[in-house]
Formats: sequence, structure tokens, C-alpha cells
Amino acid sequence: MSKRVRISDRVDYVGSQDWDREIFDSLIPLPDGTSYNSYVVKGSEKVALIDTVDPKFGRELEGKLKGIEKVDYVVINHVEQDHSGCLNMVLERYPEAKALCSEKAKDLIITHLHTDPERIVTVKDAEEISLGDRTLRFVYAPFVHWPETMLTYLVEERMLFTCDMFGSHLASSEVFAVKPLHDYVESCKRYYAEIMMPFALPIKKNLEKVESLSPSTVCPSHGPCWTEPGFVINLYRRWSQGEPENKALLLYISMHGSVSAMVERMTDRISGGGISVARVDLTDPDLGKIAINLVDAHTVIIGTPTVLGGPHPKVASAVVLANALRPRTKLIGIIGSFGWAGKAPEALASLVPNLSGAELLPPLMLKGLPDEDGMQKVDEFADMIIERHAKSFPR
Ligand code: FEO
Repeated sequence: MSKRVRISDRVDYVGSQDWDREIFDSLIPLPDGTSYNSYVVKGSEKVALIDTVDPKFGRELEGKLKGIEKVDYVVINHVEQDHSGCLNMVLERYPEAKALCSEKAKDLIITHLHTDPERIVTVKDAEEISLGDRTLRFVYAPFVHWPETMLTYLVEERMLFTCDMFGSHLASSEVFAVKPLHDYVESCKRYYAEIMMPFALPIKKNLEKVESLSPSTVCPSHGPCWTEPGFVINLYRRWSQGEPENKALLLYISMHGSVSAMVERMTDRISGGGISVARVDLTDPDLGKIAINLVDAHTVIIGTPTVLGGPHPKVASAVVLANALRPRTKLIGIIGSFGWAGKAPEALASLVPNLSGAELLPPLMLKGLPDEDGMQKVDEFADMIIERHAKSFPR
């Protein structure tokens, strides 16, 4: 998509596909690249650009704006730089243009982009701005993803521009979702898990606002646009408000085979008890895989060897991530091995304050390579988990 793409009589897509980006926020792997979606809305009197693109694609955006004689407004739905990073370039190109943003966004734009405050105009929640025969309505949506975030609704076309909400990290040659919708679940879930899961409560409130608008098209600023928005709205409702599933996630690392022996035994026992098992070896993990499984796992089992008296640092790192993502986990188990002493369980337990709603089972730490007695203890630990799941998921 090297040129503007018309997506309705009055709306052009001017975003960019980042096919080769492999990591986001220096943390999150991007197996399918990503996109930075930006839109031009042309009213009979005024023109608005909705979000910009990552600064890496500034020249591409400039090229796509060729032939557009004036831009009156640059709507900044969200100040994170992958969307706002070309604001100053656009304001320079169109000296009459003003940036429109929420009240909380103004300070963030000034501090993050050093934009001239005279060029920034704040809008209130539910405020409308006329472009002539088209109207933009601004809908505050705090904490999807930052506190300043808002959505922009193109009233006459029932088109909702949602920035990060309903996004996917997915580069594509198509603006709209064109494959069977089920094919998009994995990329939507990965994105939700990595970006949105910590904000499940605000998402609930903001979903109500979205549904009250009854949009016919949802245009996020990452990944495909949705002409059947009920699909992504329902996914968000399920992931943010539904109960976790009859599933256990094993996050583990093994140095000399003791923890992996325990993990193998645990996997066999709890899967035999009717629990679906997901496993992530933390030696070289895809952090997205951890996040995705945290969306719906009822139980998380952490397996660690003892290193210098504490948990393996890579296990501790994964636990810090899990805690930050605030999953709806109900049960946490810590298993592992030690050589002569150690406080790995205490150290790991102290890293999960955001999971205070979850029950922490008494840890199981075995000395050295597990013998049959040790394996019996693994079975007993697994049986505690099976028992808890049987209560939560009666057959
Ligand atoms: Fe895609 Fe929160 O930025």
C-alpha cells in the first residue's frame, strides 16, 4: 500500500505496514509485523487526519498526503509515539492545522513530542466538530491504552476510529479483514493479551460506550479494520469479563533435568484429570505465548530450579511479566528443585502482588533429582489442582 486507499467516499487510508518489525516496546515479539493506521476524513468544508504513523514511516505518510491541499485537524486519539510520532511533521506541512486531543493528552503531547502548545486544542468527552457534511464526535476511553486515550466517531458513516482498542499486530496488504474472521482470533488475542489485558476493568466500561454507538465499521490503528465489529467486540467482552477456562499454564525452566521431570509428571497427571495444559519453557520464551495463555488459564504453575538461593532469573522475569499483565488467574502453584537450601518460592510469591485474588498453593520444592517419593509428591500436588478445578468446572 504505497498510495492512499479509499475506504469510503470520504475516508482514505494513509497508514503504513511494518512487515519486518520483529519486536515492540523492546519486549514483545511480532511474528506477523504490525501496521500503523492513519485515516484522512474529507468533509465538505474541512479535512481531518486521524492519528499519524510511527516516525519510521514519516516520509511514506508525507508521500500519501501529496495532493491533499489542506488538513484542518490532526486528531490524536492516543499519544504513544507509534501513532502520534509524525504529528509535528504534519503540523509543519499544514501551518493552519490544529492537533485535537483529550484534556489529558495535551500535556503528554508537549512532554513527549515537544509540540508547540499553540497548535493543540483539547476536546471534551462527547464533543462534536463539524467538517461540513461530516461530523467527528470524540469519546473519551481512558486506559485503552493510556489515561488520555479517546475514540473518534464519524457520525454520518457510523465509523469508529479506536486507535489501540480492537487492534492486531498484523501487517497486511488489505485494509479490511478479508479472511474468515476466525483466522484473526490468534492475532487479536495476542494483541489483547500483551496490550489490553492489564486494563480489563476500563475495557468493560469502554465496551459499553462502543456498543452504545453501534458502529458499522471499526477502524483501529493497528491491523485490519472490521466491517463486522461485533466479532472483535464479543472477543473483548469474553476476554475481559468472562471466567478463565479449565486450563493450566506451566511456566518453567530446568537446568539439570529435575524440574523438567517434575513438569512432565505434572503435565501427565493434570491432563489425565481433564485439565487442558499449556506449557512454556522459559529458556528462550515467546513472551506473547505466555501472555496469550494467561488470558484464559485458571491455574498458573511456576517451575524453577534454585539459583544462588533464589528462583532462576528467567523464571523471575516471566513472573514479573505475568504479574504486570494482571490476568484473571485463580490458582498459583510453585514447584521446583534445590541442591542444599534456598528461598525460591518466597521470592516468587513476593513478585505476584497483582495476583492477590488468586489462591497460592503451598509450594513443592524437592531436593535434587526427584525419586519415586518425590514423584508421589508431584502427583499429590497435581491432585490438589485437579480437585480445585473440579469445583470450578463441574462436569
Ligand atoms: Fe499502538 Fe499504545 O500504542
